[in-house]
Amino acid sequence: MKLFHAFLALAVGVVLSAAPVHAVDLSIVSGDTGNGIKVLREILDRYEKESGNKVSIVVLPPSTTDQFGLYRLWLAAGNSDIDVYQTDVIWAPQLASQLIDLTAAAKDVVGAHFPSIIQSQTVNGKLVALPIFTDAPALYYRKDLLDKYGAKVPATWKELADTAKLVMDKERAAGNKDIWGFVFQGNAYEGLTCNALEWAMSNGGGQIIEPDGTVSINNPQAAAALDMAKGWVGTISPPGVLAYQEEESRGVWQTGNAVFMRNWPYAYALGNSEASPIKGKFDVAPLPAGTGEGARPVATLGGWNLAVSKYSKHTGAAIELAKFIASPEMQKFRTLKTSNLPTIQALYDDADIARQQPIVPRWKQIFLNAVPRPSATVKIKYNEASSQFWTAVHNTLSGEGSAADNLADLEARLTKLKGKGW
Ligand code: GLC
Repeated sequence: MKLFHAFLALAVGVVLSAAPVHAVDLSIVSGDTGNGIKVLREILDRYEKESGNKVSIVVLPPSTTDQFGLYRLWLAAGNSDIDVYQTDVIWAPQLASQLIDLTAAAKDVVGAHFPSIIQSQTVNGKLVALPIFTDAPALYYRKDLLDKYGAKVPATWKELADTAKLVMDKERAAGNKDIWGFVFQGNAYEGLTCNALEWAMSNGGGQIIEPDGTVSINNPQAAAALDMAKGWVGTISPPGVLAYQEEESRGVWQTGNAVFMRNWPYAYALGNSEASPIKGKFDVAPLPAGTGEGARPVATLGGWNLAVSKYSKHTGAAIELAKFIASPEMQKFRTLKTSNLPTIQALYDDADIARQQPIVPRWKQIFLNAVPRPSATVKIKYNEASSQFWTAVHNTLSGEGSAADNLADLEARLTKLKGKGW
């Protein structure tokens, strides 16, 4: 009898400690930037072990603009193959009606996140996505090269252009033929909206569309900022910058071929990775300010979230998955590997993060003061408004029309869009 009990206890123990039975197959969509997919896979491996569910990643191109186009198509078609979407901070108002309300499911966890980020994902009282990381750009600079030529970290765009030119010219003369002064995101897509909002607003040129709905972009300070950026192309920036997104800029920077780069915090961990030629040779600073009236440094607010599709066949499991990835433990894991800025407030005081990814605590104030794009203002018209803006900017950078003419034309287009209601 004793032996039988012992056997029973053993058997129960074995059953309880065994991995949970495979329950459901889930899929998550994610864009491919830096080491993001690799790290997401590691997080999902842990989730699979804990839950017994399986998760596959549908990998998309890195451009948020391309991703958004596909999301719209899939959601419009009621696609049930995708359970969880990784969504950009700006898309909440446009996708809200096709995503599950997470308010009730997340009520035990939202308090740990920055309230402003939760707010950005709340549309008419509905929490449409759970934040996984936030974004605010940095000016990356080569410490070694600035030191070599006795140059300071630039505080204005003018100083940036002057220093970029000085260092680039001297380096080239010394045989460093491939070096450029400054790389950024000049392609015609959402990333250019982020860059150009920084140029215009940091020069006192307003926020494109103000929070009260006023179309403000057609003004001399904004035009001067675009003219300034046009002057960089082909001088301190490679002509190819007009086709660069984040990863192309990082490619030039990380091979050691740029003095300065505008990019998001993800480039910090990668630049300091073992095989990186610039490991230990760079640092980050706030983006420069303009010089006009009202000039100040401006960082555009970015960030990524997880949303559950209304058409998922496993919404319960999908919500649990989103909560798992957004949790403090997994955000810490992600931050240590990617230097993405967490959305959990306590992680800015975490000693491991401060030691391994010092950009994170340094960037807390920058992200808290970052300027949102006008997506909450123009709501479902945001994609169209942004694409009008980046088109006007790209035309200017490419020499198709002057900044003043392109902004006057943009104002007319945005006013027409506004006339249809936003
Ligand atoms: C980053 C930001 C995102 C922005 C995108 C533009 O991924 O987090 O908000 O829209 O860059 O390229």
